[in-house]
Amino acid sequence: MENENKYSKTCNSIEDTRELAKRFANIVKDDGCFVNLFGDIGAGKTAFVRLVAEALGIKEKVTSPSFTILNEYHTGVIPVYHFDLYRLENVGIKTITDELREYSESDCLTFVEWAEFSQGEVPFDRIEINVTYDDDDNRCYTFTAIGDKEKNIIRKLAEE
Ligand SMILES: Nc1ncnc2c1ncn2[C@@H]1O[C@H](COP(=O)(O)OP(=O)(O)OP(=O)(O)O)[C@@H](O)[C@H]1O
Ligand SMILES: [Mg+2]
Repeated sequence: MENENKYSKTCNSIEDTRELAKRFANIVKDDGCFVNLFGDIGAGKTAFVRLVAEALGIKEKVTSPSFTILNEYHTGVIPVYHFDLYRLENVGIKTITDELREYSESDCLTFVEWAEFSQGEVPFDRIEINVTYDDDDNRCYTFTAIGDKEKNIIRKLAEE
């Protein structure tokens, strides 16, 4: 598809998602990226993070950080930080916006699940991934770039 800010990929199996995650990992492995993940419970947000981590050589198995807010992984080619803001529902993302900004400015790969628990958007460049599914193992991953570096990542993703 589409315009320079967006890329969508339908994955019919977990293997397809693994392939997409590998391609994404390969593009962001040097400079990192800040990623917000959206989608219903069970859509495949954590699954994508797990598969990207796998592609980056991270040895630990990525699990949902719901009860810890943040999990970090330092055994791969780039540090990976995985936030899950589900439990911040009532206080909202505002309480940690400054902290998230720091992660967005360093050379690491940061994923944030449930960033919609915010009153507004995070005020910095990022990629948003929206995950939808209708049935079984079909998942649609839509990437949207907010920022120039991010547009470049999406362009590469669409090219391959
Ligand atoms: N093509 C696919 N891509 C990704 N996950 C898939 C696919 N097919 C099946 N699945 C399964 O869907 C489930 C997705 O669960 P996951 O924990 O990633 O959801 P989530 O979006 O993180 O939900 P939550 O909001 O609860 O954190 C996993 O059990 C995964 O194995
Ligand atoms: Mg999850």
